[in-house]
Amino acid sequence: MSDIEQKVREIEEQAAREITSAEHLEKLNDIRVAFLGKKGTLTAVLKSMKDVAPEDRPKVGKWVNDARESIENKMEETKARLDAEKMKVQLKAETIDVTLPSKMQEIGHRHPNTIALEEVERIFVGMGYEVIEGPEVEYDEYNFTKLNIPPNHPAKDEQDTFYITKDILLRTQTSPVQARVMEQGKLPIRMISPGRVFRSDEVDATHSPSFHQIEGLVIDKGITFADLKGTLDVFAKELFGPDTKTKFRPHHFPFTEPSAEVDVSCFKCGGKGCRFCKGEGWIEILGCGMVHPHVLEMCGIDPSVYTGFAFGVGLERIALLKYEIDDMRLLYDNDIRFLKQF
Ligand code: DAH
Repeated sequence: MSDIEQKVREIEEQAAREITSAEHLEKLNDIRVAFLGKKGTLTAVLKSMKDVAPEDRPKVGKWVNDARESIENKMEETKARLDAEKMKVQLKAETIDVTLPSKMQEIGHRHPNTIALEEVERIFVGMGYEVIEGPEVEYDEYNFTKLNIPPNHPAKDEQDTFYITKDILLRTQTSPVQARVMEQGKLPIRMISPGRVFRSDEVDATHSPSFHQIEGLVIDKGITFADLKGTLDVFAKELFGPDTKTKFRPHHFPFTEPSAEVDVSCFKCGGKGCRFCKGEGWIEILGCGMVHPHVLEMCGIDPSVYTGFAFGVGLERIALLKYEIDDMRLLYDNDIRFLKQF
């Protein structure tokens, strides 16, 4: 009889010791299982009740229940203490030092090419032009044949081309977009087409195997060379300043007739000749001409009704001139110290 009482007391004390020394919550759960669980030591006492004389059973029951209550209370207290400690450790670990300087967000920056392109687009969109893009991987037929450069024409050699198959290549110019737009047959046309072009050129201060051009095309009834001159003169003045003069030099392009290259008066020296224009007073900026009647025909436009002009500008050339950069490679090096200046 007092054996059982003694045993219950020992269990209670043992549990109390273990609970007090528990260092984390998982341990506390183990203790609950060991003492109060289905196979726990205190539960075992209850299970042995059948061996106790019936009149003593209420007393034994009370001891066991008192012990269980005391163990549960101790566990509650300890759990509260361990919870608080855990929170304290966590708060300490997650402290935010509000005095630390923050990480600066580096805000991106437009590339000089992009700035120059947006400037060119602004000028032409202001004159009612649409901006139309074409594919960088192009058919030989559009890049050459439809532009009046037949299969054995020497002009094909001048543009050392990256061929993908016999008929498909990386476009060497943005001019094929002219043919694509004309073929759609929606007239009149007033468009510019900026984009990347490719040539098998060695890299140097003025060459790169990949660069950008902006093509221009106007087709309507009664378009003349005077319209071309006027348009490009406005363009040059907008881009390089109101005092800029333009000069049209006769040239040859297979897809225009007549063709010209356009020089602008040097905006550094005003045409007197300086280091910037290599003493010339003039700087070449683009090629242009009246769209060849045969090109119009090949693209389904009747040259006896419609005429038009076209031009092609090198975007890098504009960016280099506008920002007085003397080496094209700087545009592709991705050196932030350089790019930040524009
Ligand atoms: N596509 C020519 C080139 O890459 C540039 C050019 C010249 C485009 C005259 C034209 C043009 O549209 O009329 O050299």
